[in-house]
Amino acid sequence: MDAKTLITGGLGFIGSNYIDYILEAKPFENLLVLDKKTYAADPDALKRWEGNARLSFIEGDICDAQRLSQIFLENNIQGVVHFAAESHVDNSISGPQAFVETNIMGTFQLLEAARKTWMDTNQSKKTGYENARFHHISTDEVYGALGPKGAFTEKTAYAPNSPYSASKAASDHLVRSYFHTYGLPVVTTNCSNNFGPYQHQEKLIPTIIRKAIQEKPIPIYGTGKNIRDWLFVLDHCIAIQTVFKKGTLGEVYCVGGDSEKTNLDLCAAVIQILDSIQPRSNGESYATLITHVPDRLGHDFRYAIDATKIKNELGWSAQTSFEEALQITVEHYLNKRNR
Ligand SMILES: NC(=O)c1ccc[n+]([C@@H]2O[C@H](COP(=O)([O-])OP(=O)(O)OC[C@H]3O[C@@H](n4cnc5c(N)ncnc54)[C@H](O)[C@@H]3O)[C@@H](O)[C@H]2O)c1
Repeated sequence: MDAKTLITGGLGFIGSNYIDYILEAKPFENLLVLDKKTYAADPDALKRWEGNARLSFIEGDICDAQRLSQIFLENNIQGVVHFAAESHVDNSISGPQAFVETNIMGTFQLLEAARKTWMDTNQSKKTGYENARFHHISTDEVYGALGPKGAFTEKTAYAPNSPYSASKAASDHLVRSYFHTYGLPVVTTNCSNNFGPYQHQEKLIPTIIRKAIQEKPIPIYGTGKNIRDWLFVLDHCIAIQTVFKKGTLGEVYCVGGDSEKTNLDLCAAVIQILDSIQPRSNGESYATLITHVPDRLGHDFRYAIDATKIKNELGWSAQTSFEEALQITVEHYLNKRNR
């Protein structure tokens, strides 16, 4: 049976972009997508891959241990790229339980399925699984908040501040422990904020565009001075593939776009593009719709990534400029709305 890579959460924002990238750039790889189809899954993603014999899909939950071991055994799973997660910080504040279940228990069950399928008891791989690899996708939010200076590196101490980042931190620790305890062949990436096509409408950039076009208030938390490092999703996907194939087992790689923006600056950049390609009928800028709303609880002030390790060791760097990527992104959401 052909070897397959299991992609968990492949119907979500980054997972579906990653699948698009792999099917285009590595057309000989076989992918098995496992997704629970939560509210965050893109219902149209599967249509993009219809008829592609290299991809199959299973609707299922990463917390379901029995199903996972069956999937591993029946599909010759030789690799895992683990995207599945509850990912929206606001939802983790209003309902943290699902975050603990999927992000911690789900990752645990997945690690267990990989361990039982791939590993002997003495930390060596079973025959037939010599090249197996497990890539855990994580976030820079596990490192907490920065002041005005400095950047997160792989050596930064964990200090998660939201139930989302705490659940991701716990999953990172489990992944690390499976390398050290069982020899499971893992790599982890901790990435900054992604943007690009196919993001769920609840996230910041799709929200700015949607509200602007609907002539509704564009909500900005607090002063809007919080800073994030933005990375185009395609550049993240290329980083993932680079680490998945070439990263040193047991290592962590921080991935970032060297593109720090305050939320207000990001909003202004989106609005500048909207004003030029879909101007308002009243002749005003969409900027007049910006409305400050009460700040998110425990809102981290600043995140920034120092991506020196992945650049120096694996030769990756972001290829698309922030301006070019934002233009692609805004056009994507406008085309989707106008279809
Ligand atoms: N979006 C970002 O800016 C960003 C940045 C850094 C890291 N990450 C991490 O990248 C990964 C993907 O993020 P995203 O933005 O694509 O998330 P997303 O919310 O868009 O997609 C998550 C996907 O996982 C699926 N899923 C959720 N629970 C599941 C379960 N129990 N079993 C199986 N499938 C399940 C959902 O149906 C959805 O398709 C996450 O692990 C996230 O923590 C995201």
